[in-house]
Amino acid sequence: MKRKLWRSGFLLIALAVFLLGFGVAPALADSAKCIKCHQRHTPGQVADWKVSKHAGEDVGCADCHGDKHTNSKNSNLAVLPDEHVCKECHEAQFESFAKGKHNFGWTSLNALPITHLEPDELMEGGRGCGGCHNMGIKTEAQKKEQIAKGYRYQNNSCDECHTRHSFSKKEALDPKACQQCHMGYDHPQWEMWSSSKHGSRWRSKQDGNLPEGAPAPTCQTCHLPNGTHENRTAWGFLGVRLPLPEDKQWAADRVVILKALGVLDPVTSKPTARLELVTSVDMVRGTQEAWQAERDKMVKTCSQCHAESYGKTQLEMGDAMMQKADRLLAQAIVIVADLYKDGILKKRGEQAFAYPDFLYFLRTDYSAASGDSYKDLPAGMENIEQVLFEMYMKHRMRTYQGQFHVNPDYAYWYGWAMMTKDLGKIQSDAKKMRVHHKLLNKK
Ligand code: HEC
Ligand code: HEC
Ligand code: HEC
Ligand code: HEC
Ligand code: HEC
Ligand code: HEC
Ligand code: HEC
Ligand code: HEC
Repeated sequence: MKRKLWRSGFLLIALAVFLLGFGVAPALADSAKCIKCHQRHTPGQVADWKVSKHAGEDVGCADCHGDKHTNSKNSNLAVLPDEHVCKECHEAQFESFAKGKHNFGWTSLNALPITHLEPDELMEGGRGCGGCHNMGIKTEAQKKEQIAKGYRYQNNSCDECHTRHSFSKKEALDPKACQQCHMGYDHPQWEMWSSSKHGSRWRSKQDGNLPEGAPAPTCQTCHLPNGTHENRTAWGFLGVRLPLPEDKQWAADRVVILKALGVLDPVTSKPTARLELVTSVDMVRGTQEAWQAERDKMVKTCSQCHAESYGKTQLEMGDAMMQKADRLLAQAIVIVADLYKDGILKKRGEQAFAYPDFLYFLRTDYSAASGDSYKDLPAGMENIEQVLFEMYMKHRMRTYQGQFHVNPDYAYWYGWAMMTKDLGKIQSDAKKMRVHHKLLNKK
């Protein structure tokens, strides 16, 4: 008996030495101190950590924040953990995330010519562009730039779906985890999905009005299936792809749109430096195969619940709607581009060419930058490009996004119907501007 006790004591000491060697025991000891003090300072965070799987697995505060900050005065020494900290224990999810489009959120935002003209608070902070684009593993240079602007938070993408400090899997499987970012102006996927049959079924199920086993696809069913963290769709946000479509008219319309995106030179139709930029951040599918691979995956997903041919047909209708939307948009771009050609509109600011520039997010600063007297501008003069921008960014997006997300109202009334209205306005405004320009030149 005595011998046995002695032996288990020895084993305990051996275990402690082993743990110390790996730094686990000190981390836990530090975490106890953190918790004791933070129980007073930030009790909500401690409570949240306590309900996490991490608490049960002895992953404490110091495992993620380090042990350098020890009192109320030196909290600047606390590490704000980026994704690499999570990677230490969750390599599979880290690697998978790194291959997906979320990993380009921050880089693609900062690649836009408009970004540096916006207030820092809307970039670095938790709101504005940066509130949603704080996705992606930042380089050391990107982090330094942020710190130079006086902001040291939001270093972690993982907590965008598994919010801290409960870091829950169940939460990330809830479509509400996507809502904050996938909503609103140019990507109302939340609104479209939640009012579609797919979403209303999901809610009926939540409310207990459909049996537990009834299928109801969520964002995750279609976009992050089987635990993957790699997200990507066939068309993507911009809805363009290279090589150009086979249909001649569609290909021509696409060329016009690519010019307005600044990736093709409006005069020579040759690729610009921006093409490299947008392909480097995966904004445009660069090959037919890359596009088809994503499409095939999606058709497979639909066929969990629908006949394969049914899902395929539905998605092809989405493509066809995109083609029709491109016809309207290209007409509108050409009308505005012709105003540039005839000197009625002038290139300004950092616009790439004397041509509409969708990535420059056109604003109403025309009069200030062009030097024209504000009073001389006819109705529509400063507005026509805003209408064009909205036609592209809001209404074209809704037309095909609504079709893909099985939402009748978004596809038609908020999408297609608005595009036809925009085109009509652009046509009539351009006419007025030409008349006005002629009158001015006569004087
Ligand atoms: C004696 C009290 C005390 C102890 C011990 C303590 N903290 Fe803190 N901690 C604070 C206070 C106070 C703040 C600042 C809160 C504020 O800014 O309102 C803070 C801030 C933080 C921050 C935020 C840093 C920032 O830049 O905003 C983190 C993270 C943090 N603590 C983690 C820890 C961890 C991990 C430990 C243990 C290794 C720990 N704390 C130990 C009191 C303590
Ligand atoms: C699994 C890793 C992990 C653990 C464990 C963890 N944190 Fe955090 N914590 C984070 C991440 C990620 C952030 C956000 C970092 C950022 O914004 O760059 C954060 C941010 C914070 C902040 C600053 C932001 C805010 O909302 O106030 C405080 C304070 C904090 N943690 C305290 C704690 C305390 C106290 C514990 C232990 C009870 C703890 N953390 C445990 C990952 C962790
Ligand atoms: C020291 C190791 C360690 C670190 C660092 C760590 N985790 Fe964990 N994490 C674990 C363990 C252990 C589990 C429980 C595993 C299980 O239940 O299969 C876990 C579970 C999880 C889960 C699943 C929770 C659930 O509800 O099933 C998520 C999500 C998670 N961690 C996210 C993170 C994120 C995000 C970070 C970085 C901010 C992080 N972890 C850092 C060890 C770690
Ligand atoms: C409400 C959250 C939110 C805000 C605010 C936001 N974005 Fe986005 N952004 C997104 C989402 C979500 C996507 C992907 C949409 C999709 O694929 O339908 C996206 C896509 C993009 C893309 C295209 C990326 C690609 O690979 O196709 C760019 C560029 C972009 N946003 C820039 C900006 C800029 C610049 C701002 C601020 C002026 C901004 N965003 C504000 C959420 C947001
Ligand atoms: C866009 C939302 C999103 C982001 C961002 C995200 N996750 Fe997840 N994560 C999920 C979803 C959804 C699941 C559930 C997957 C499933 O079981 O089908 C999940 C599951 C997990 C799990 C549990 C795995 C298991 O099966 O027990 C871990 C661990 C995890 N994620 C870690 C991470 C880490 C680390 C990061 C950052 C590199 C991260 N997640 C970023 C959505 C996200
Ligand atoms: C039934 C499956 C399904 C569900 C559920 C679903 N989507 Fe989609 N989603 C699609 C399809 C199909 C596309 C277009 C794919 C393509 O380009 O071929 C798409 C495209 C997207 C895109 C790229 C731009 C676009 O809208 O065309 C984003 C971002 C997106 N979905 C996010 C979401 C979010 C967020 C949710 C939940 C609120 C959601 N989706 C729900 C099937 C689904
Ligand atoms: C913190 C904001 C945020 C959250 C939360 C978020 N996303 Fe995203 N998502 C983005 C941004 C930003 C992009 C565009 C990234 C880029 O620049 O390429 C994006 C892109 C996507 C795309 C790729 C579309 C394409 O271009 O092919 C899909 C699919 C997607 N998200 C699905 C989801 C799903 C599903 C969830 C919830 C589980 C989710 N996202 C949660 C911000 C978010
Ligand atoms: C997890 C199961 C599931 C998945 C996956 C799924 N659906 Fe559905 N879908 C349903 C259910 C259930 C309904 C409602 C019953 C019905 O109308 O068939 C529905 C309805 C629809 C409708 C409306 C039918 C009508 O008559 O109004 C369309 C269109 C549709 N789905 C297309 C798709 C497409 C396209 C995909 C793949 C991108 C897809 N679904 C993926 C389960 C699913």
